[in-house]
Amino acid sequence: MTRLELGTVPEQVGWLPDTMQAVVIRKEREGDPMQAMQIEDVSLPALGAREVLVLVMAAGVNYNGVWAARGAPVSVFRMHKEPFHIAGSDMSGIVWAVGSEVTRWKPGDHVVAHCNQSCGECPACNGLDPMACEQQKIWGYESSWGSFAQFAKVQGQQLVPKPADMSWEDAASYGLTYFTAYRMLVTQAKIQAGENILVWGAAGGLGVFAGQLAQRYGANPIAVVSSAEKEALVRELGATMVINRRGFDFGKIAGGTEAEKIAEQRKFGKAIRDLTGGKDPDVVFEHVGKDTFSTSVFVVKRFGKVVICGATSGFDLDFDVRYLWMRQKQILGSHFANAYEANRANDLIIAGKIRPVVDDVFSFERTAEAHQLMADNKHMGKMVIRVQAS
Ligand SMILES: NC(=O)c1ccc[n+]([C@@H]2O[C@H](COP(=O)([O-])OP(=O)(O)OC[C@H]3O[C@@H](n4cnc5c(N)ncnc54)[C@H](OP(=O)(O)O)[C@@H]3O)[C@@H](O)[C@H]2O)c1
Repeated sequence: MTRLELGTVPEQVGWLPDTMQAVVIRKEREGDPMQAMQIEDVSLPALGAREVLVLVMAAGVNYNGVWAARGAPVSVFRMHKEPFHIAGSDMSGIVWAVGSEVTRWKPGDHVVAHCNQSCGECPACNGLDPMACEQQKIWGYESSWGSFAQFAKVQGQQLVPKPADMSWEDAASYGLTYFTAYRMLVTQAKIQAGENILVWGAAGGLGVFAGQLAQRYGANPIAVVSSAEKEALVRELGATMVINRRGFDFGKIAGGTEAEKIAEQRKFGKAIRDLTGGKDPDVVFEHVGKDTFSTSVFVVKRFGKVVICGATSGFDLDFDVRYLWMRQKQILGSHFANAYEANRANDLIIAGKIRPVVDDVFSFERTAEAHQLMADNKHMGKMVIRVQAS
C-alpha cells in the first residue's frame, strides 16, 4: 500500500498513492466539528472526462464546513450519494491528472479552485448563467471530494490560475468568500463610485473582501465589527467608517417591544449618518440573517439595495415590510459566483488590487479545530489548512 506524506510533493507529477488522507464527515457522527471531522485513509476518487484531480497544497476554511459537520440545517448526505463527505470549498494546488475532455489545464499547472459546479450542458449553463443550472452545486458542500484531503476532484471549469508570487496558503484563502462578495456587490448590487456600503461582519471571511471591493469601485465601506481587534483589521484594510455593534442592543431589536426595536434601529441608523455626513447606506451587504436583517431593511436608503447571501444567525427572517415597499427598497438574493465572475475577480488579485487576509494557518491534523473556532466566531479574516505545502 503506497501513501503520500503530508507536506510533500512527489517528484513525478501524476504519481498516485493507493490511498489518501482526508478529513471525513460521516452521517453517524454529525455534530460539532471537533466530533464530526476525523482524519481517515480513503481511496482516491475516480475521474470523469471533464474533471481534474488536484494535489491539494492548502485548503481554505469556510462556514459551510461548519454546516456540513453539524448536519444542520440540512445534512450533506441529503445532497449527494457518497458514503462519506470530504468538505472544503477552497484550495490552491497542482493539477495532477486531467479527464479526457479537459483542454484548458495540464498536469503541473498551479491553480486555485472556485466552488461552483454545474452540468455544463443545459441552456442555463450555455447562455444564462451556470448558477441557474438545475444541477448547480457548491463543491465540497453539496458535493463531496472537497479540499480537506491530499487530492481533490473538481470540474475543469472550476480552476483559475494561481497568482504566481502568492504563497499556497494565501492562494487557498480567498476563492469562496471573495468571489461571492464580487458577485454580490459588482453583479447584483452594481455598486457605483461614491456610494456608501454597509458591510456586516467586515472583519470576517466575506467582509474583508466586501470592504476592499467597495473601495476598488470608488465606494465607501461602513464596516460593522464586534471588537477593537477587528476594528484595527478593517482600518488597516482601508475602512475609515467603522461601527462596533456591541454599542447597540440587538436583543431589543430581536425581542423587545415595537417601540424599543424602532428606537434601537434609529440609534443604529444615526450612527451610520454620523459617519457618512447624514446619508443612509445605498447598499447593505448582508449574510448574518435573523439578527440583522430587519435593521438592514430599515437603515438602507430609499430605493437602496440589501444584497444577501447567507444567514449565520438564522434563516427565518422577520422584518417590517412597510419599510421595503413604502421606500421602494430592493432585496437581492445572491449565491457564490460563476466561472466568468471568478476569473474577473481573480484578475484583480493577480494585479495586486485586492489582497487575501489570512488570520491563521493550521496543520492538516487541526482541521476540525479551525472549524470549531469559526463556529465559535473566534477568528478574523480567513483560516487556512496546510496540506501538501511544507
Ligand atoms: N451563498 C454563498 O455563496 C455564501 C458564500 C460565503 C459565505 N456564505 C455565508 O455567509 C455567512 C458568513 O460567511 P463568512 O465566511 O464571512 O463567515 P465569518 O468569517 O464567520 O464572518 C461572519 C461575520 O459575521 C459577524 N457576525 C456573526 N454573528 C453575528 C451576529 N449575530 N450579528 C452581527 N454580526 C454577526 C461576525 O463579525 P463581528 O462579530 O465582528 O460583527 C463574523 O466575523 C455564513 O453563513 C456563510 O455560510 C454564503
